[in-house]
Amino acid sequence: MLKQEPGDGEATLADPHFRADVLNGIAARPRAIPARWFYDRRGSELFEAITALPEYYPTRTEAELLGTICPELDVAPGAAVVEFGSGSSAKTPILLRCIDPAAYVPIDISGDFLRQSARDLADAFPDVQVLPLEADFLRPVPLPNQVADLPKLGFFPGSTIGNMDAYQAVDLLRAMRTWLGDGAKLLIGMDRVKSPDILVPAYDDAQGVTAAFNLNLLERINRELGGTIPVDAFHHRAIWNDSASRIEMHLEATRDIAFEVEGRPFAMRAGETIHTENSHKYGERGARLMLRAGGWTPVREWSDSQGWFSLILAEAQPLARGP
Ligand code: AVJ
Repeated sequence: MLKQEPGDGEATLADPHFRADVLNGIAARPRAIPARWFYDRRGSELFEAITALPEYYPTRTEAELLGTICPELDVAPGAAVVEFGSGSSAKTPILLRCIDPAAYVPIDISGDFLRQSARDLADAFPDVQVLPLEADFLRPVPLPNQVADLPKLGFFPGSTIGNMDAYQAVDLLRAMRTWLGDGAKLLIGMDRVKSPDILVPAYDDAQGVTAAFNLNLLERINRELGGTIPVDAFHHRAIWNDSASRIEMHLEATRDIAFEVEGRPFAMRAGETIHTENSHKYGERGARLMLRAGGWTPVREWSDSQGWFSLILAEAQPLARGP
C-alpha cells in the first residue's frame, strides 16, 4: 500500500482507502468517517498532546497500572512482543523492561511516527530486535520471519479496541489470534464504564486539544483530497451514548455550508454532524465475553484503585474445543 505523509507544500498522492472512506462517509446518512483517519502526522502529534491532558485519564492510568502489574505477567524472556497501533510507543518501555523480549514488532498506520519511535526504542533497548511494520492492522499483516519461531505476546493498549464496533472488535481479535498463533498471549487495555462527568471532559477538554484533534480530520481532507471544507464552520462535540456504552465524537456544522472534496459537491445544514469516532467503554463481564468471542481466554485481570481502566491478559484459545 502506497502512503505518503504531507510535508511542507509538498504535493501528495491521496491514499485510495482514505479517499473512498471520506467520499462514501460524507455521502452516507448518518455521515461518518472511520476514526483511523485521524492519525496523519499532525493527528498523531495532537493525540500525544491529548494523552498528557489533565482530563484524559486513560493513558496515565494504564501506564501506572502496567508498571505495577508487569512483574506478574509471567512471560518468559525471549518472546516477541507485537504491538497493534503502537503510535509513539510511550508505554512500551515499561513492558520491555520487565519481560525482556528478543524482538519487538510495532505496527502502526502512521509511518513517519512509527519509524521515529522504532529508532528511539532500538537505541534504548539494544538487545531487542525492533522490527516496525507500517500497516493498517485491520487488514492482514504478515509478521516478519525473524519472529516466526518465538513465543508471542500481543500488546494492544490504550483501549484502542474501543474505537471498533463489537463485530469489528471480534473480527480483529480473531485475526490477532490467527496471526499470533497457538500458545500466544494477549495483553489488552480496556477502558471501563464510569460516570459521564468523568468521561465527557476526557473527550472535550478545557484547552480544546481534543477539538483540534477532531477538526484536524477536516484539515487533512482539505490537504490531501483537495477539499474546500470551511473548517471554521465546524464545532467539536463529544457525547455519552449510554445504550451503546460509548463516547461519540462528532463534527457539527454551525451554519449551512457547501463544499467540495475531490471535485464532488457536498452540503450540510446547520446542526448536522459528521460522526468521527466511537470510544466504547466496557463492564467486566462484557470485556471478557468479547475476548472469548474473539478466540482469547482471559486468564488474569487488573484494574487501578478507582476501577477506571483495566488490563487483561488472555491466552489464544485452542482451535479444537470441548462440548
Ligand atoms: C485511540 C482509543 C486511545 O478513544 O480514547 C482520544 C482516541 N479520541 N481522545 C480513545 C481518542 C479522542 C483514544 N484511543
